[in-house]
Amino acid sequence: MNWLQLIERRDSVRQYEEDVDESTLAAVRKICQHVQRYNDSPLKFFLLPGAEVHQRQKSLGPVGRVLAPWYIAVVAGDDRDSLFNLGYSGQRVVLELTALGLGTCWLGSLVDWVAIGSSLNLGKGEAVRVLVAWGRKPESLPKKQGRRLPPEKIAVFPGDEDSKYPWRTVLEAVRWAPSAINAQPWRLAFDTDAVHLYSRPRRMTRKYCPIDMGIALCHLELACMQLTIPGTIAEREHPQRKGWEYWVSYLFD
Ligand SMILES: Cc1cc2nc3c(=O)[nH]c(=O)nc-3n(C[C@H](O)[C@H](O)[C@H](O)COP(=O)(O)O)c2cc1C
Repeated sequence: MNWLQLIERRDSVRQYEEDVDESTLAAVRKICQHVQRYNDSPLKFFLLPGAEVHQRQKSLGPVGRVLAPWYIAVVAGDDRDSLFNLGYSGQRVVLELTALGLGTCWLGSLVDWVAIGSSLNLGKGEAVRVLVAWGRKPESLPKKQGRRLPPEKIAVFPGDEDSKYPWRTVLEAVRWAPSAINAQPWRLAFDTDAVHLYSRPRRMTRKYCPIDMGIALCHLELACMQLTIPGTIAEREHPQRKGWEYWVSYLFD
C-alpha cells in the first residue's frame, strides 16, 4: 500500500481487540526507534501497555476513554518547534502502523500527563504531550465516514488551476489528516513553484495547533513524494492571507 492509500485508509479507532502478538509489538517498537523527524528538537516515543495507561485516564466511566491494549507516549518540549516536530513524526508512526493493518487514535485529553510521565525518567522541559492508542481494529468495525471542511474553505489556487501538478490529490491528502477535535486548522496556498502551508487556529484548540500542523506537513510531504513532485520543505516568501498564520512551504525543485 502506498502513502496515499495509507492516508485514505487511516481513521481514528476507538475500539480494539485485546491481544497483540509479539512480532507486531516488535515491529511497532522498531518503527518508533527509526521514525523520521522534521527538526532536532528532543522527541521520544515510549511503548506503554494498556494497564499502565487505563488507570491514568481521567473520566467518569468508559465515556470518552479510548481503551487500547497498547499506547505510544510521545515526549517532547512544549514550544512550537517541538510540537510541530511531534506532529510530523507522530503521524509518520501512525501511518506506518496503518501499513501493518493496525488501528490508531491520537489522544490529547483526559489523561493524567504527570502520572504517565513519572515512570519515564524524563529530562528538564520534557513531558508526555500526547498518546497514540493502537491495536488491532475489530474486523466488524467499518471505516468511518469522516467529516471535513470543503476544499474551497481550506485552499487557494493561483488564477485558474495549473494542471501541471495533481493539486487536488495533494489537497485531499492534507484535508483528511487527523486533528484535535477535528478542528482542521490547516490552510494551503498552491502556487506555480510551491505549496505554502498556513494555519487558521480556533481558540479552543489553539494548544494543539502546532501538532495538527506537523501532521498536515507530514501528509503534504508524503503526497508530493508519492506523486513524484520533487521538492524540499523550507520557509519562503509567501502570499499574505488575512487570518492565516504562515508555517512553511513545499518548494518544487
Ligand atoms: C493532537 C490530537 C489530539 C486528539 N485527541 C483526541 C482525544 O483526546 N480523544 C479522541 O477520541 N480523539 C482525539 N483525536 C482524534 C480526532 O478527534 C480525530 O482525528 C478527528 O475527529 C478526525 O477524525 P479521523 O481521525 O477519524 O479522521 C485527536 C487528534 C489529534 C491530532
